[in-house]
Amino acid sequence: MQQLDKILQFARQNYIPVMLDDTRQLLFDLVSKAQPSKILEIGTAIGYSGIIMLTASKGATLNTIEMDEDSVKLAKSNFAQAGLLDKVNFFVGDAREIVHQLTGNYDFIFLDGPKGQYLDFLPYLLEVLNVGGTLVCDNVLYKGLVENQPENGHKHVTIARNLKQFLHQLQTNPTLQTQLYHTGDGVSVSIKLS
Ligand SMILES: C[S@@+](CC[C@H](N)C(=O)[O-])C[C@H]1O[C@@H](n2cnc3c(N)ncnc32)[C@H](O)[C@@H]1O
Repeated sequence: MQQLDKILQFARQNYIPVMLDDTRQLLFDLVSKAQPSKILEIGTAIGYSGIIMLTASKGATLNTIEMDEDSVKLAKSNFAQAGLLDKVNFFVGDAREIVHQLTGNYDFIFLDGPKGQYLDFLPYLLEVLNVGGTLVCDNVLYKGLVENQPENGHKHVTIARNLKQFLHQLQTNPTLQTQLYHTGDGVSVSIKLS
């Protein structure tokens, strides 16, 4: 899609973090297969991943959380250009507060927000994920630092430890079936079994 390439180019030129190319393909394939009706996203940025998901599941609506207001403005404009704005509800604010107030039943959740908070978010996300639903989390290998934990004093040590614990919880939770992809910065895909 030409518009997605333009958004990607804009993001790269303006140092806005959006997903890597192979993760884009993986996300598109997962949503195409799942065909969710209700999607939740944490970390809208400028709408790149949101457009990918709504393009892959034509009948879906997206609730998306983002704290940066400038990004939200750009995201609205990008969704509008894609003809998808009426399918999106924006929750503008800190996901650390918003996740506690989440209600509803989601078929697909894409977690791509603050990496240090994934572990805290998990119980709230599992609460609103339907049985049979999919939870996809980006950057779970965090620059290789999750599998090769850094020494004390390293600037990313806390995030790397939190993400390692997060992955362990996903992989040992008996209500989840989790697959880890070494695609991009690491992507986990969990299906809620019960
Ligand atoms: C990696 S970017 C999301 C990229 C987007 N999903 C994509 O691929 O197009 C992470 C986003 O999370 C947002 N973010 C970080 N911490 C947040 C928080 N506590 N609450 C809400 N949004 C947050 C950032 O502003 C940033 O836009």
